[in-house]
Amino acid sequence: MTVTPYNTPTESKKGQVERMFDKIAPFYDFLNHFLSLGIDIWWRKKAIRYVKDNQPNRILDIATGTADLALEAAKTIQNCSIVGVDISEKMLEIGKEKIKKDNFQHRISLEIGDSEQLQFQDATYDAVMSAFGVRNFENLEKGLSEMYRVLAPNGTLMILEFSKPKTFPLKQLFDIYFKNFLPVIGRFKSKDKNAYRYLYESVQQFPSFEEFTKVLNQVGFQNTQYKSLTGGICAIYLAKK
Ligand SMILES: C[S@@+](CC[C@H](N)C(=O)[O-])C[C@H]1O[C@@H](n2cnc3c(N)ncnc32)[C@H](O)[C@@H]1O
Repeated sequence: MTVTPYNTPTESKKGQVERMFDKIAPFYDFLNHFLSLGIDIWWRKKAIRYVKDNQPNRILDIATGTADLALEAAKTIQNCSIVGVDISEKMLEIGKEKIKKDNFQHRISLEIGDSEQLQFQDATYDAVMSAFGVRNFENLEKGLSEMYRVLAPNGTLMILEFSKPKTFPLKQLFDIYFKNFLPVIGRFKSKDKNAYRYLYESVQQFPSFEEFTKVLNQVGFQNTQYKSLTGGICAIYLAKK
C-alpha cells in the first residue's frame, strides 16, 4: 500500500504531498534543523562534496524545497549554475527569499517542476541531485527515469535520503524518536498532525540501501554506490549515466 500524508483515497499522493509541503513550508527549516539536532546540515555538506568531485557547471536540484541543498552547492562549487525544481510553490517562495538574502540570484533559479515529468531537454545537466525528495515521489521509477534522461552522459547523480538503522541500540532509539517524539513536536509546531507521521511511515516504506541501488541500476544508472551516514539513519547514493 502506498504511504500518503493524508490517506485521502480520492487525491493522488502527489496532490497530498504538495498540499502538505505548502502547509508546513513556514516551519520546515526550523523543524528540520531542530529535530535532526542540526545533523541535516552536515549531511547536505557531505553530499555536496561528492557532487563537487566532477566539477559540474550545470546542476539540477530535484525537490529543492527551501533550497538548502542548492545553496550549499552554490557555496561549495565554484562557477556552477543551479536550477531547483519542486511541486510546492510555498516551499519555493521560502527558498527564493533565502537565495536573495545570500545574494545567489545570479547562480540559482527556482521553478515549479515535477520530477516525474521534467520540463528540460535530454542530457541538459552535468549533475542531478536530490535531498529527502525521492521518498515523496508518487512513482519512484518514473521520477528516477526523468532524472536519468536530463543528465548528460557521464554526469553524476547524487541522492540523499533517510534510511532505517539496523543495529542495536540505534535501531530501537531511532524508532522511538521517529515514531513517537518527532510527530508530537512536528504536530505542535507545524499545526499539521499528519506531516511527521507521514515522515516516519514513508521512511519505513522506502527501499533498503541494496534495494534502492538495484532500482537505480534498473533505470539505467551505472557505477551505483551508497554511503551510509550516522549509523544508517541516512544515506548518500551516487551513480553515473
Ligand atoms: C523533505 S522536502 C526536501 C526539501 C529539500 N531538498 C531539503 O533538502 O530540505 C521534500 C520536497 O520534495 C518535493 N516533492 C515531492 N514530490 C515531488 C516531485 N514529484 N517533483 C518535485 N518535487 C517534489 C516536496 O514538495 C518537498 O518540497
